[in-house]
Amino acid sequence: MGKQIVVFGTSGGIGNALVAQLSADPSIARIHAGSRRPTASTHAKRMPFAFDLQDEASIARAAAGIEGQVDLVFVATGMLHRSGGPAPEKALRAIDPAAMAELFAVNAIGPALIAKHFAPLLPRDRRSVFAALSAKVGSIADNRLGGWHSYRASKAALNMLLVNLAIELRRTHPQAIVAALHPGTVDTGLSAPFQRGVAPEKLFSSAQSAGYLLDVLNHLTPADSGGLFAWDGSRLPY
Ligand SMILES: NC(=O)c1ccc[n+]([C@@H]2O[C@H](COP(=O)([O-])OP(=O)(O)OC[C@H]3O[C@@H](n4cnc5c(N)ncnc54)[C@H](OP(=O)(O)O)[C@@H]3O)[C@@H](O)[C@H]2O)c1
Repeated sequence: MGKQIVVFGTSGGIGNALVAQLSADPSIARIHAGSRRPTASTHAKRMPFAFDLQDEASIARAAAGIEGQVDLVFVATGMLHRSGGPAPEKALRAIDPAAMAELFAVNAIGPALIAKHFAPLLPRDRRSVFAALSAKVGSIADNRLGGWHSYRASKAALNMLLVNLAIELRRTHPQAIVAALHPGTVDTGLSAPFQRGVAPEKLFSSAQSAGYLLDVLNHLTPADSGGLFAWDGSRLPY
């Protein structure tokens, strides 16, 4: 029987590219593709579902709708800015509690809720992967520039939650791998306002980044669980 996988955030640049590449993988039988506004599937393997990271019941419903076990959960959602809403803060005086709460809800709490409802679907007797898109700027040890307070702090919180998930799963799912991923700088709506100054060869297409990330995941072992990995497979400090 082929693998069953779930991708959250398939309307996003990287999420959409992940689904396209995973659809071509003959070892995968079924891809549950989640977004806030799903459209009908145009591919035999893809099964669209609706969820919102700020609505736990929608995540619980998504988990309840899946039959059998899940070999890969890929959380490709995230938020840096929203038109008319949060924007990355350049200084402390720009901190707005509602905006900060929204970034934490989307970048940290939502993925934690996905872990809560989807970890029980991971197999105990074979390899499985729970991956989430984080960001290098969420690394506390690597922070030299400051700023972007809500985004950095919410991604640091996500990284901590993923380490906790790795520790908790190690007891019951010895072959499970939990990975926080840095996709590089990728040409999507999320990075669009911040691409000035990025050298063209350092700005990846979504397809390029998705290919790199799937390759990174293929090479991870349970001993790597809980790590933060960049698109080139290097392990980044928390
Ligand atoms: N692009 C980069 O250069 C870069 C760099 C480092 C890290 N990352 C990380 O990579 C991830 C994906 O980014 P991207 O570049 O592909 O951005 P994107 O194109 O803006 O995609 C973001 C995705 O998150 C979803 N999302 C946001 N809020 C949601 C909510 N409340 N409920 C459900 N889904 C929600 C969006 O859904 P809607 O379409 O419904 O809004 C969309 O599918 C993010 O975690 C980001 O922090 C990106």
